[in-house]
Amino acid sequence: MMTANEIRDSFKKFFESKGHTIVPSAPMVIKDDPTLMFTNAGMNQWKDIILGTREPEPRRRADTQKCLRVSGKHNDLEEVGHDTYHHTMFEMLGNWSFGDYFKEGAIDYAWEYLVDVLKLNPADLYVTVFEGSEEEGLTRDDEAASYWAKHVPADHIINGNKHDNFWEMGDTGPCGPCSEIHLDSRTPEEKAKVPGRELVNKDDPQVIEIWNIVFMQYERKANGSLVPLPMHVIDTGMGFERLVRAMQGKHSNYDTDVFQPIIKEEEAITGMKYGEKEETDVAMRVCADHLRAVAFSIADGQLPSNAKAGYVIRRILRRAVRYAYTFLGQKEGFLYKLIPVLTREMGEAFPELKAQHDLILHVIKEEEDSFLRTLEKGINMLNSAMDELKKQGKTELDGVQAFRLFDTYGFPLDLTELICRENGFTVAADEFDAEMQKQKERARNAAAVENSDWVILREGEQQFVGYDFTEYECHILRYRKVTQKKNTYFE
Ligand code: ALA
Repeated sequence: MMTANEIRDSFKKFFESKGHTIVPSAPMVIKDDPTLMFTNAGMNQWKDIILGTREPEPRRRADTQKCLRVSGKHNDLEEVGHDTYHHTMFEMLGNWSFGDYFKEGAIDYAWEYLVDVLKLNPADLYVTVFEGSEEEGLTRDDEAASYWAKHVPADHIINGNKHDNFWEMGDTGPCGPCSEIHLDSRTPEEKAKVPGRELVNKDDPQVIEIWNIVFMQYERKANGSLVPLPMHVIDTGMGFERLVRAMQGKHSNYDTDVFQPIIKEEEAITGMKYGEKEETDVAMRVCADHLRAVAFSIADGQLPSNAKAGYVIRRILRRAVRYAYTFLGQKEGFLYKLIPVLTREMGEAFPELKAQHDLILHVIKEEEDSFLRTLEKGINMLNSAMDELKKQGKTELDGVQAFRLFDTYGFPLDLTELICRENGFTVAADEFDAEMQKQKERARNAAAVENSDWVILREGEQQFVGYDFTEYECHILRYRKVTQKKNTYFE
């Protein structure tokens, strides 16, 4: 059986043998694109090439890209841990052609790699093609369908709608029709009962998409229109963890050697067993997944904080801390103890993990310790609030309480929503937002500065002499009183 590391290497070797330059993963944290906080697809780092504003050479490239899908257009956070094949951070294997081969070449390479090299059974593979869209003025992708017909029987080619088969990076940017390859890994009995084609894109955990091949042809403009790109581009993305699962004959990504070493360590620390109880399993999966997202973000320079990308990372980490606390009995820092295993397993492919090992471990430990100081009180408050709601026959937590949990106990809104959901409650998110707004205004007022008029003591000119002297005799020409946050001083 191939290991995860061997599978990753075989992908690179295959595309190298087809004339592709193997490039390193871009950082998962994006600093120079206002439309995106984190890399959510392998093509992000090639956006400018695809739009024609950067040199396309070399025109064939391949890599494994660290991606994070927790905000914006591509957000899988709620599924993570509850199912067995979504992740916050995942690796996307990709190959690109910038004005070189197009639909036929991309389809042929994908097929050759999966079937000839990896020996996946073609009978288990289904492909989708874009059915067209009247509102966009686009017709069915007959061209892609005709190339697929070289490899698969007609009943393995399925039409897909704009949602599944027209890939867009974000609200604006490069986009185009796509073909997905889905793998049916059910038992022969199940396959005999219901053909795989009926389960494609139907959320069946055993019939899942493994590879998306995008035929980039347009740029989506801010006004919604589609403008043809200067050249045709191939952009593909294969879920590495899903591919490993297929190759290792597992039914869950978490049963592969990508996640098992971490889960084994969780078992050793908690004394609990994976696979015995659903809520423990979900918690172990969430922690294993979120750990990777947080560790890789820190390695790429994004520390948890209270704003923007930093807050996304803090939210992910706090979710994991709470799962470990409630379902794995971890009342003290836990996630940081898993870092050595993560570094051991992934440090070869991603040297930044090794280089930043101590920083990652310490930052996570600090974050855990700090949140654990208020977590129990927050959970108690939330439990009493839910008891009260139950008594009153209500099902919605008001925004004031949700905001108190946020402000006093450090509960991100999505964590409060998660706990409420687990107990059959919802949260008045609008009210929460209104409370947040009020607090911002309070903060603005508190930060407001009041100045009195200048009091002139004598006439004269100001002069800067600091370059030449460290001491100098001078006179105060004027002063005024400044009041800020109830403090008064003179300047
Ligand atoms: N950019 C495509 C995706 O992320 C390949 O699915």
